[in-house]
Amino acid sequence: MNLKSFNSELIKGSIVCPGDKSISQRILILGWLLNKNITISGFLNAEDPLSTANALNQISDSIEINGNEVIIKERTAEPKNPKNPIDLGNSGTGMRLMFGLISGLGIEATLIGDDSLSKRPMRRVADPLKEMGALNKLKIDGTPPIEIFKGKIIDDFVYEMPVASAQVKSSIILAAIAAKKGITIIEESPTRNHTERMIEYFKGNIEILPIWCDESKSLNSFIGNKIVYKPRELISIEHYDVVGDFSSASFLIVAGLISKSGKLIIKNVGLNPSRSLLIKILKSMGGNVSISNKRMVSNEEVGDITVSPSKLKGFNVSHLLGEVRADHVIPNIIDEIPILCIAAAFAEGSTILGDLEELTIKESNRLAAICDGFDAIGIKYFSDRKSSIKLYGNHNEDINGAEIDSHGDHRIAMSFLIAGMRSKNGITVKNCKNIETSFPNFKDIMNSLGMNINE
Ligand code: S3P
Repeated sequence: MNLKSFNSELIKGSIVCPGDKSISQRILILGWLLNKNITISGFLNAEDPLSTANALNQISDSIEINGNEVIIKERTAEPKNPKNPIDLGNSGTGMRLMFGLISGLGIEATLIGDDSLSKRPMRRVADPLKEMGALNKLKIDGTPPIEIFKGKIIDDFVYEMPVASAQVKSSIILAAIAAKKGITIIEESPTRNHTERMIEYFKGNIEILPIWCDESKSLNSFIGNKIVYKPRELISIEHYDVVGDFSSASFLIVAGLISKSGKLIIKNVGLNPSRSLLIKILKSMGGNVSISNKRMVSNEEVGDITVSPSKLKGFNVSHLLGEVRADHVIPNIIDEIPILCIAAAFAEGSTILGDLEELTIKESNRLAAICDGFDAIGIKYFSDRKSSIKLYGNHNEDINGAEIDSHGDHRIAMSFLIAGMRSKNGITVKNCKNIETSFPNFKDIMNSLGMNINE
């Protein structure tokens, strides 16, 4: 499906942020593991969480989904080897988290995915799981299908994370929980901590201890976190409320900033500090972004975000020094980099982003996809397409129209559709179907706020 986004000046209105994808997937898995009656509201009814729900139901049927409400019922049957391969569609999170869970349960299954997921690296999860005692087999190049065999998880496994990945961290934590074993993880570059927050919420025995390299405990002496989980029965709760997805909100935020008039309020946005650094970056670029009504919901920070048109300036990651260590920035904004690049494309001056290796192994090579898109719309940049980009903003001028390939990547598609509002003749984005994986009503929501996106 192709979409075309036409020039539109105004972004105005108030919208409730769609549910968080990472949290929706995690609450399905942990809720299922708890094996008690539990209801969930604010659930993201999109393809990625739905494939996770189907995967869990294939092992033992207990999840019912009704729009944004979910019921997980106490199971009568024990988890069993699924009859058919489990299809995780486009979802790297679904596949990696289910890999850990199934390994910990000690059952056998094969995990498969769509063309994009079938090219993504799985050794980063398979290797630590094997060290934990799980048994698995990948394709020779480390990609899916993943065959999981019955293994035996050891107690108190200690793992120093070689890559900054919340999916890897969560996968091995889930393996330990499912096997009722302890685990310690050293995470040098902190990643999103929703799994840890949820275990805390269920009164699980988890500690997150900062590691400092000296007594000063200053920013530069902060090395990372030591996460220690010891098995203890999780306390059942009857209801879990999923907060809004900051990554989905980021498309709305940038649309509001690069629009020419209006004011946008995005309500109920998750503001977990391990996810929301983009706000600080956009503010330091001169963005009119403010947060109100800050509160805690289900052990996650949440608030309402107000955005209005802004004259943005280019940005260099080192400007953030003093608040966050420069080498800790990218994991925090990993899913927002494509839309940050669009904001930077309409800013005055240059923007520099480095340490982007992980961006090249997402649903597509996002760095290459951004570069190709910039070639098409006439934004100048330098990039090795492997780890960094320096781009030159268009000084608030509108850009050329163009046709862009999203490479089937939802975040690339949404980013360039947002850019379309500032194009002279509209931007056509090819292959937009996968927007359904994370933001099902994207087109209708954006159009209701003033954009003009058509099939
Ligand atoms: C996610 C973690 C991130 C992110 C992905 C969702 C998660 O991936 O890019 O969209 O829910 O744990 P990595 O952990 O591989 O960086």
